[in-house]
Amino acid sequence: KHVAVLMGGLSSERPVSLNSGKACADALEAEGYEVSRVDVDRRIAETLAELKPDVAFNALHGPFGEDGRIQGILEYLQIPYTHSGVAASALAMNKLLAKTVAKSAGVPVARGRVMKRQAIADVHPIAPPYVIKPVAEGSSFGVLIVRENQSHPPQSLSSPEWTFGDDLLIEEFVHGRELTCAVMGDVALDVCEITTEGHAFYDYDSKYSDGGSVHIVPAEIPADVARKIQEWALAAHRAIGCRGVTRSDFRYDDRFGPKGEIAWLEINTQPGMTAVSLVPDIAKQSGHSFGDLVRWMVEDASC
Ligand code: DAL
Ligand code: MG
Repeated sequence: KHVAVLMGGLSSERPVSLNSGKACADALEAEGYEVSRVDVDRRIAETLAELKPDVAFNALHGPFGEDGRIQGILEYLQIPYTHSGVAASALAMNKLLAKTVAKSAGVPVARGRVMKRQAIADVHPIAPPYVIKPVAEGSSFGVLIVRENQSHPPQSLSSPEWTFGDDLLIEEFVHGRELTCAVMGDVALDVCEITTEGHAFYDYDSKYSDGGSVHIVPAEIPADVARKIQEWALAAHRAIGCRGVTRSDFRYDDRFGPKGEIAWLEINTQPGMTAVSLVPDIAKQSGHSFGDLVRWMVEDASC
């Protein structure tokens, strides 16, 4: 099979995608596939029409690669592709819409709403602590945590250098441990806990610097909490209409007892596949090597 690995692209997460793409392309070659490495630019439709791969392996992250746009091009060209389709990708990329759908499927979500950047530049939109997230970004780009003692919203919101758009999700800050759960097809894999010594949260640096975070799989949490998280990751995956592999991120507040409070934060339809990413680690724990994982994704591709 000839597999085109799509990487790079137009979003802020381009460097992450180049790493995901390289890791997947190397592994697919080792699995015996014929691999073309495609750095995605605005001529991608022409490139793919000429290349005529049997499958497109989508290793893109962020806007244009994770939000239904590249998926639409692949549908037009009738090239089977990995991960979620057009509608699910578009839905999942918008954190507010994704939460609305997940909530309707019974998944507990952090409360929040979308506001314009200008509207929150000077005055707190809600009482701190709260979190500001670009409504459609990944890898924690543009995520700001506003603490109890901050008198004003962060100044970076008014900076001309702000590149993460004007639609911002304002979410009540949820205390707690960072948990994540990958879904592969119709199965939720083991829950993973992420610890980030020396970082305020699982931010860009802790995600991608060597040793910036530790993944604990399976997470050391009560069995019924793990079961709930798996159930909700699967419920969100299904309700949003996802396909292939996704990863749902949660916070688990166990300060007041082991049952705790759990909040689903988001689903990632194009989860990172770099050497330090979560899904490859979680899959390994479930007995799938990186090679098995990418092979499964290629064989699961459709359009
Ligand atoms: N957005 C990054 C790649 C992730 O979810 O892993
Ligand atoms: Mg994300």
